[in-house]
Amino acid sequence: MKSKPRVVHRLPGTRPEALPPVKPLLDWFDIHARDLPWRKTRDPYAVWISEVMLQQTQVKTVVAYWERWMRELPDIGSLAEAAEERVLKLWEGLGYYSRARNLQRAAQRLAALHGGRFPAVPSDILELPGIGRYTAGAIASIAFDLPEPILDGNVIRVLTRVLAIPGDPKSRAVSDRLWDAASGLVRGAAAAADLGPRRCGRLNQGLMELGATLCSPTGPQCDRCPWQASCSAFRSGQVTAFPQTAARPTTTARYFATAVLQDHHRYLVRRRDAESINAGFWEFPSLETEASGDPGPLLSRWLLLTDPAWIRHPDLRHSITRYRITQRVVSAKARPDLLRLPGEWRWVTSEELDGLALTGAHRRLARSMVPSA
Ligand code: ADE
Repeated sequence: MKSKPRVVHRLPGTRPEALPPVKPLLDWFDIHARDLPWRKTRDPYAVWISEVMLQQTQVKTVVAYWERWMRELPDIGSLAEAAEERVLKLWEGLGYYSRARNLQRAAQRLAALHGGRFPAVPSDILELPGIGRYTAGAIASIAFDLPEPILDGNVIRVLTRVLAIPGDPKSRAVSDRLWDAASGLVRGAAAAADLGPRRCGRLNQGLMELGATLCSPTGPQCDRCPWQASCSAFRSGQVTAFPQTAARPTTTARYFATAVLQDHHRYLVRRRDAESINAGFWEFPSLETEASGDPGPLLSRWLLLTDPAWIRHPDLRHSITRYRITQRVVSAKARPDLLRLPGEWRWVTSEELDGLALTGAHRRLARSMVPSA
């Protein structure tokens, strides 16, 4: 039987949210907005790149990445046509590389279907690869001043506090309520002509800025907040009780054995398989292993090496999403028979290593193991 279309109802008994006034937030943002390079432009391409980078890491790290990206790939056309390796190299260190690939796919789509320009139509923006509701809302409001809502972790914190919204923001019901509130606020800004130009973009950025600066998770500075008088959580002395985030999922430990192999002044690297996470990146040969076990013999077996003089190095640790990764590292001077090993391999100098796209963990390893990398 064909399933019926889903009908969305407001929960019984819920009323439209009593939203705080937008003017104090806009006035506050106009004075206190951090001076960030992507705030000096309305180019939707520049806004898009900054927003996707900001989903990966903090503002102070993004500035240098964004400036370099905009220098090297200044517009949709140059991104659409760039070699994938160049795009990955510009993204290197930000992690979650599917985002970089999606940026390029979306640029190619824009070049093919929209004459290389961003459409000023939210539903068309939302159809692009890698662009979800948040990014589409950010581009539509900041670049085109359209009354489209945004909701990220910072905005969730601000709105759950101001409106004292209980429950897990990841749940459908709470998330719908938050999107409704964000939408009501930006529409309110759009409707008030006396609030000045670019008010949808300023409102949305003001919400994010408030969450990023004053309305912090554990030390909110309520005495400086433009919405103190409207904040329900402040009134009941419960600011840090919101948002009521569910407990984090438990973490999983994973272990890798990595070999830094040197032959004269070259190092052996392997390209990650097309279907693996971080596909296309280069790395020192690595194997996932059990928790215990000496990396040397495992790597010898895999690389078909007979008893190289492995030197053990300190373990490296990092986290990706819920995985706590321990990388056990050995090095040796040895030359495996690459013709008998599946995959794409290269022997590279330290300068060539510098130019390759490596994942964050392997770049750190290169810095600690390879002179001048
Ligand atoms: N975080 C992500 N995007 C932002 C923006 N445009 N302004 C403030 N904080 C942000």
